[in-house]
Amino acid sequence: WPFFAPLIFQINRLKKERDAIILAHNYQTPQIYHGVADIVGDSLQLAIEATRVTQQVIVQCGVHFMAETSKLLNPQKTVLIPDSRAGCSLASSITAEDVMAMRAQYPGVPVVTYVNTSAAVKAVTDVCCTSSNALQIVEAVPGDTVIMIPDQYLAQNTAKKTQKKIITWAGACEVHETFTAADIAELRAAYPSAKIIAHPECPPEVIDAVDYAGSTAGMINWVKTERPARVVMVTECSMSDNVASETTGVDFLRGCNICPHMKRINLENILWSLHTMTEEVTVPEEIIEPARLAVERMIEFSA
Ligand code: 13P
Ligand code: SF4
Repeated sequence: WPFFAPLIFQINRLKKERDAIILAHNYQTPQIYHGVADIVGDSLQLAIEATRVTQQVIVQCGVHFMAETSKLLNPQKTVLIPDSRAGCSLASSITAEDVMAMRAQYPGVPVVTYVNTSAAVKAVTDVCCTSSNALQIVEAVPGDTVIMIPDQYLAQNTAKKTQKKIITWAGACEVHETFTAADIAELRAAYPSAKIIAHPECPPEVIDAVDYAGSTAGMINWVKTERPARVVMVTECSMSDNVASETTGVDFLRGCNICPHMKRINLENILWSLHTMTEEVTVPEEIIEPARLAVERMIEFSA
């Protein structure tokens, strides 16, 4: 912390001068999450918070699709991302053309798209979802069949909870797809008294073997409410680092992977971003409106 203090101080000062707000995802490092973020949350919370921003500048500490979502909801504001290379294996797994081809194959079937996608994909979508409202959205759209893209595992995990038929796409999160049922069995053997919780981007065999599955905010709430003596968070590593300092009496055990995209954001490039007002996130005019509608419908459905 003493090492980070000068950067944190400068960021917080410059943030005020620039009339900027920092929105940070739960996978950001503790120095960002606790040191400079104004708002932290999961994808749904960050999208909702983006609709309430009063500042002129938004600095998105997360990956590119999150910054795009903030821009869709605030087309008149300046949205900055400290490193525009912060991508996502799910977002890069599908294009707008792929979605149009699926629509042609399944005419009239509603398209529910995970927010972990580009604005161009959102623009050809009926309604977005996140891991915290996926079931709610699938249930809310008309008909008994739904196209749910691009995360095959979120789709499969949701399919287990609904009567509706779900058509999937072969995308996966590179951080969560590598966890296996054998990993969970190993953790259970090593730490018999520990609770194990996971993100629904994990394969169904993992979700079936854990004590709770939910979005990043869902997992944080679960730990804060249940207060298990020992817990393993099967997700991105910063989660337990961030929540550990807010939750006394819980022993956080390691069982995580790092997201290289989330980790592109650091204090140095946040400061640089505020200093130079780069890198600005833009979305083509013709995409903004339809993509924003898909995100707004999601927010309405999950109210
Ligand atoms: P949530 O924070 O919505 O659970 O999403 C997790 C994630 O992988 C974001 O990239
Ligand atoms: Fe994408 Fe997975 Fe990283 Fe989230 S954790 S940004 S879903 S690659």
